[in-house]
Amino acid sequence: MFYLRSVNFANAKFLRSYSLVEQITDNKNPEFAFIGRSNVGKSSLINALTSKKDMAKTSAKPGKTQLVNFFDVESILNLVDLPGYGYAKVSKQKREVFEELITEYLLRSDNLFIVFALIDAAIPPQRIDLEFMAWCGEHRVPVGVIFTKTDKKKSKIVEANMTAFEDELSRLFEHLPVTFETSANTKQGIETLSEWIEEQVQSIAHP
Ligand code: GTP
Ligand code: MG
Repeated sequence: MFYLRSVNFANAKFLRSYSLVEQITDNKNPEFAFIGRSNVGKSSLINALTSKKDMAKTSAKPGKTQLVNFFDVESILNLVDLPGYGYAKVSKQKREVFEELITEYLLRSDNLFIVFALIDAAIPPQRIDLEFMAWCGEHRVPVGVIFTKTDKKKSKIVEANMTAFEDELSRLFEHLPVTFETSANTKQGIETLSEWIEEQVQSIAHP
């Protein structure tokens, strides 16, 4: 029996940004993608996962990430930071280009293992998030849920928001998608997430 050496996420390196899916031709490693409403905390989560301060750029200004950004982790897997959906402050035409890029990537990537929908645990369920989850279900895109910002409100509020979201999901999915509860600030759930990713990579390498 062979075991893949453990994955050190701190060795993640920015690989490339793509503005067209056709450009993504040279990658063979499984891709773990992250998406969500603008400002949900995607870049912060990727930085927490990789113990970096600013590998994925974070900002308080929505709409910062506008390309498909690939990060290599030890030539074993890729983390993919996708553009946020649902910008308010970007022109409609630009928004359509992002949406097309996201759609094309999710439907056409040969190596996408899962796309994690990041869901803000500090607010009640948002329609755009549920629509995205439903779209993944309809198109058989493998999707998981990562609740973010679990530190931001009182735990009772956070619990109620997450339960409400899962209740909505149970109407859409026969089997609930894999779910993680995280905070980039307190690092809650980050290790659980990295261990899960590592397990998936191991099971691909040694089914
Ligand atoms: P775009 O790339 O602009 O779509 O945003 P993003 O989803 O990458 O969000 P980003 O990581 O830039 O974070 C947005 C804001 O949320 C920043 O002000 C972060 O400091 C804050 N934030 C991110 N994660 C957390 C968290 O776990 N807890 C709290 N309280 N705030 C967070
Ligand atoms: Mg970002």
